[in-house]
Amino acid sequence: MKVLGLSGSMRKDGNTALLVKEILKPGEAAGIETEFVSLAGKKILPCLGCGKCKEKKWCVIEGDDWGAIAQKMIDCEVLVIGSPVYYYDVCGQLKNFIDRTYSLYHDRKLAGRRGIAVAVNASAGADRAVKTIEGFLNSHELASLGAVTGKGFTEGEVMDDDNAMAHAKVVGDKIVRLLRPRHD
Ligand SMILES: Cc1cc2nc3c(=O)[nH]c(=O)nc-3n(C[C@H](O)[C@H](O)[C@H](O)COP(=O)(O)O)c2cc1C
Repeated sequence: MKVLGLSGSMRKDGNTALLVKEILKPGEAAGIETEFVSLAGKKILPCLGCGKCKEKKWCVIEGDDWGAIAQKMIDCEVLVIGSPVYYYDVCGQLKNFIDRTYSLYHDRKLAGRRGIAVAVNASAGADRAVKTIEGFLNSHELASLGAVTGKGFTEGEVMDDDNAMAHAKVVGDKIVRLLRPRHD
């Protein structure tokens, strides 16, 4: 698939999911192959720091959902990756997911793709969460297509954040221009 939207929130239909999906909309409307994945309800065990991935080039932890989602990430061209802000940073579920991608780092399995960082906070902390996500994207040599932050507390509130919705459209349109270049 060309575009993968990933929400790290444990709220399946929460604000992060809604904002990520908003970014995917222009691409979907243009007929670009798109998939959305939520980490809600997924079993994502933490990195053990064992370093065995340096040899195996894949995480040695088995029996959870990390591998299937990591493979989708490897297969995509644009990754839209978002988190709710928990204590001024990304949430634990997304951090566990990211930490496990150390196994993809050794031979830069994600390099050359484009990335978009997304974070939703109630009042503060989205900037730092975006920095964390961009640190992940930069480490893996994905080029940034921008970052989108939103404001919301209860589920759905981010849809009332007009700035976030407008910015989601701007960045979503960039995805369309990247993957559907005009030839005239
Ligand atoms: C454990 C926890 C920590 C939070 N920490 C912050 C915070 O540091 N700053 C903030 O503005 N909102 C904080 N929030 C509020 C969430 O960021 C906010 O509700 C967000 O919209 C949740 O997104 P979601 O619906 O995608 O899960 C926190 C919420 C929880 C549950």
